[in-house]
Amino acid sequence: MSAVIEVSGVAKQFKIHHERHQTLKERLLHPRSGSTEIFDALRDINFTVGEGETVGIVGHNGSGKSTLLKCICGVLKPTAGQIRLRGSLAALLELGAGFQPELSGRDNVYLYGSMLGLSRRMVERVFEDIVDFSELAHFIDTPVKFYSSGMYVRLAFAVAVNVAPEILVVDEVLAVGDERFQAKCLDRIRLFQREGRTILLVTHQADTVRAVCDRAIVLDHGIQVADDTVGEALRIFRQRLLGQVPGHAVVSSTVQITSVTTPSGSFDMRRGEDLAFEIDVTSDHAVSANLVTEVFTRTGLLVSRSDAQAAPVELRPGVNRIQVEWRSVPLLDGVYDVNVGLVEASGGTVLAWREKAAAVQVLYDGRATGVVEIESSVTA
Ligand SMILES: Nc1ncnc2c1ncn2[C@@H]1O[C@H](COP(=O)(O)OP(=O)(O)O)[C@@H](O)[C@H]1O
Ligand SMILES: [Mg+2]
Repeated sequence: MSAVIEVSGVAKQFKIHHERHQTLKERLLHPRSGSTEIFDALRDINFTVGEGETVGIVGHNGSGKSTLLKCICGVLKPTAGQIRLRGSLAALLELGAGFQPELSGRDNVYLYGSMLGLSRRMVERVFEDIVDFSELAHFIDTPVKFYSSGMYVRLAFAVAVNVAPEILVVDEVLAVGDERFQAKCLDRIRLFQREGRTILLVTHQADTVRAVCDRAIVLDHGIQVADDTVGEALRIFRQRLLGQVPGHAVVSSTVQITSVTTPSGSFDMRRGEDLAFEIDVTSDHAVSANLVTEVFTRTGLLVSRSDAQAAPVELRPGVNRIQVEWRSVPLLDGVYDVNVGLVEASGGTVLAWREKAAAVQVLYDGRATGVVEIESSVTA
């Protein structure tokens, strides 16, 4: 497999200027005061992406993911190191990058196309496909400053995928927009994969990484800490996020999920029954959090993730017991892994997370197959 993206020894520093004098008058009197700090957003990043590979980049907020993609796309110049690309590249960078707010959707499509190296004729040929995919026919002559972030992303995604680049770079944007459109984007990404195109994908959503990536790179404070299989990379990412690695604490580990148990001691159940379990959590401070649960099949398919805002709990300093009751569990025969996490109510920081906290074994003696049974009544 030949390398399509080669990143060697890439570093990026930003200069941050701190003003010593705060008021306008002071600043006018001391124009060159204050200090300049050098901030290492990326240090010594090395990896290659082969033709037809899909590689995920994960890391906490501010870990340098967007900076790395911008260096790869040529929007930013690395302070050190080299980036080599083979093939045409289309990028969907963070919201705000790319489009001219005063121009209409139509004009932006042409502008974006020309930025990708397409002639007006070439854009004309795919223009209708772009508008169709974006579902923005009614708004195509409206200045994009009046678009919602979802509409903006739809148009950007539609352009990027319809100009058929050899390399597609996507930063976060898949999380924006409704679920139906997200699914449509994922379908298109899968088509890209079948066509043998190369994809670099930054996302917060672990299940998207699981669903589409061949491997993943983990960034932590601008340092590449893993380039591994998806499963291993996500494990390392979570561990870093929870601050279990000394010296790299992102979130204080002062909230811990110590155990997940059932009163009977077993997670065996029958389809359609309720399942009650208890989560013991220690905390060294009082904090409002939301409980999140995820259920996966043994093949890694996300069956369900609870709403991260729907289950508020007030944690007290010391030991807390959270009671959870799942009602009429629709899962069919099989073993399911359960992840549990606590997310700070204000701000959404992950306070504690436990991967595979429990394995639920479901017995079912009916004839339906699949993962869940949909209760139905049929009439003619
Ligand atoms: N233009 C810039 N000037 C100064 N600092 C920046 C700039 N762009 C990004 N940073 C800083 O670099 C770090 C990495 O940012 P970013 O790449 O956006 O992270 P991520 O996408 O992983 O959330 C952050 O601390 C951010 O504040
Ligand atoms: Mg980012």
